[in-house]
Amino acid sequence: MKVITTVAAAQSDGRSGRRVLVPTMGALHRGHMELIYVARDHAALGGEVVVSSFVNPLQFEPGSDFDRYPRLEKADEELCSSAGVDLLFRPAPGEMYFDDQSTAVEETALSQTLCGRSRPGHFRGVCTVVTKLFHILAPDIAVFGEKDYQQLAIVRRMVRDLNLPVQIIGVPTVREEDGLALSSRNQYLSAEARKQAPILRQALLSAAELVERGEKSAAHIVQTVRTMLEQAPLARIDYVELADANSLQPLEQINSDAVLALAVFFGKTRLIDNIRLS
Ligand code: PAJ
Repeated sequence: MKVITTVAAAQSDGRSGRRVLVPTMGALHRGHMELIYVARDHAALGGEVVVSSFVNPLQFEPGSDFDRYPRLEKADEELCSSAGVDLLFRPAPGEMYFDDQSTAVEETALSQTLCGRSRPGHFRGVCTVVTKLFHILAPDIAVFGEKDYQQLAIVRRMVRDLNLPVQIIGVPTVREEDGLALSSRNQYLSAEARKQAPILRQALLSAAELVERGEKSAAHIVQTVRTMLEQAPLARIDYVELADANSLQPLEQINSDAVLALAVFFGKTRLIDNIRLS
């Protein structure tokens, strides 16, 4: 496995066959590994899998966890190498942005709801870094997780709107046995918070059951989820919302494909999850 740390080296590096990119911020877990396996399948014989690992300052809003975000370079490198990754692009912090950078990429519709509302500027940071990674690494395919449902939708929209020559593939959320979605941030949870955190998944599953039994009212579905979450003493709800699965606009009734998404704080740690409903 090649490891490249500068933009110049990445752009002048030769390539072989179809290239599949998995963008990450490192601190790799089984969720990321699943994306890498899917990338391997899509690269097929003769293609190459590229993983980027960059804790992107632009997508952390002021006061968030940029400084304490886990950085596990050696472990990440070993995981990538053992998973058959061909190239690990791990730019040094000063490599990606000029001090006087004044250009950004912004999606302006899907980014306004859900996490976009609680994290102003976050998706602008994501779109900007993902566009840069696409230009630097020129993948044919890029793989993203459905755990970050809104991010995936925004990246697809950006690729469509800007005619970026890359195909986007979504991968279902990988979970712990108790249902908690894997996340690099789970390691911040106290033992007690970790015990309570599976309530996110349980609440989403209860909502899905309600919908299966014919419930259509968003208000009722959202209230059911909130009531369940409130049973976890350490949980502080950021949002629970039912949205159209494509436009991400709030729904009052489930008539079309919908996504039920939530963000919940345990202490300073903010966890997200979602479930598709139709
Ligand atoms: P990061 O949080 O490291 O996640 C990298 C990719 O892994 C994302 O596509 C995310 O959706 C996926 N992922 C994370 N946890 C997952 C899980 N439990 N199951 C399946 N996939 C999972 O998302 C980012 O980094 C950044 O915003 C990035 C796209 C790299 C831009 O900086």
